[in-house]
Amino acid sequence: MNFEFTEEQLMIQKAARDFANDVLKPGVIERDEHQKFPAEEIKQLGALGFLGMMVDPKYGGGGLDTISYVLAMEEISKVDASASVVMSVNNSLVCWGLEHFGTEEQKQKYLVPLAKGEIIGAFCLSEPEAGSDATSQRTTAIDKGDHYLLNGTKNWITNGNSASVYLVMAQTDVSKGHKGINCLIVEKGMPGFQIGAKENKMGIRGSDTHSLLFSDVKVPKENRIGEDGFGFKFAMKTLSGGRIGIASQALGIASGAYELALAYSKERKAFGKTISQHQAIQFKLADMATEIEAARLLCLKAAVLKDTHGDYGTASAMAKAYASRVAMWVTTEAVQIHGGYGYVKEYHVERLMRDAKITQIYEGTTEVQKIVIARSVLG
Ligand code: CAA
Repeated sequence: MNFEFTEEQLMIQKAARDFANDVLKPGVIERDEHQKFPAEEIKQLGALGFLGMMVDPKYGGGGLDTISYVLAMEEISKVDASASVVMSVNNSLVCWGLEHFGTEEQKQKYLVPLAKGEIIGAFCLSEPEAGSDATSQRTTAIDKGDHYLLNGTKNWITNGNSASVYLVMAQTDVSKGHKGINCLIVEKGMPGFQIGAKENKMGIRGSDTHSLLFSDVKVPKENRIGEDGFGFKFAMKTLSGGRIGIASQALGIASGAYELALAYSKERKAFGKTISQHQAIQFKLADMATEIEAARLLCLKAAVLKDTHGDYGTASAMAKAYASRVAMWVTTEAVQIHGGYGYVKEYHVERLMRDAKITQIYEGTTEVQKIVIARSVLG
């Protein structure tokens, strides 16, 4: 087992860290306050290759490994989890899904601009009545010969308004259960496709989360991903990798809050010495550092398994369940260490604490991860 990163991985980590500090940090509080999507910043992130990091260079991607992706996600998430969720969804759910299961035509038409970051994508599984219970899709894609007729509503869709390409799961044949679900590539602007209301969220407020409405949208047959009925498996396989991205996001939120708390503890004086000299704070920092390191190792293990074609579904669920719990706990402790300053926006930790919560909810709640893990341990 080798714990050393390669030169290339360290270079990617540094590039992401520099970008986060130089480009994302200056406006992050204001974007959070006004729910402003980081459009210009995401364009730059795309131009640097961070939106299609793992895609084969022949399709416009960076050809990097999942470890590099984890490192970059951590750095971006330390500063701006709203930007990193855009990055995670585009890389893990949209690009990965298209690269692994799309046709050559679909790759040329959609994957290339997505991987280059010229456009961004969205992954549309959740519905008003189908969250954790993802097989209960109510959105329908009725087979009309050369096209599908798409009807229904999707909820809580990341990149809901800013995306150009949407991977939409829908039920074609309800009698077949999950084997009747298809994934269709839907373009913004297709007649009958409307962007619904924007959610006013607790955290990751810079990302745009919308409902989507489909009313008799004609989607050409060639826009279906995989064989007829492959849609649910497509979603599950894609989410297994997506959970590594969200675990890394949680890791970044935790380590960002920890670094702020550590620095603050060395400056803030109380009772005649810096608070870092008080054992109560030292114990907190020691526990935070240990928990973060454990979460990082779980993320990296899942990444290594993915890169070496191992079975990473359980590892990614473990990484996400653990790292998101660590994010919630560490950010809460970081606010505590900051005292009153931690409760106001200028010190960043209150935002990180709000951002942490979503990592226990999206791409499968903690309870969903435990279902995946329990099924694995019980065989
Ligand atoms: N890889 C491949 N196939 C898989 C799989 C995986 N990881 N997981 C399940 N499958 C297959 C099963 O083998 C089964 O196929 P067969 O019938 O041929 O054997 C089929 O899929 C159905 O699987 P289950 O019986 O396990 O399905 P289930 O109804 O019991 O659900 C679940 C299991 C784990 C709870 C699943 O529904 C789930 O993951 N739910 C959460 C959905 C989710 O994560 N939503 C997030 C929305 S996306 C998002 O948040 C993106 C964003 O914008 C940030």
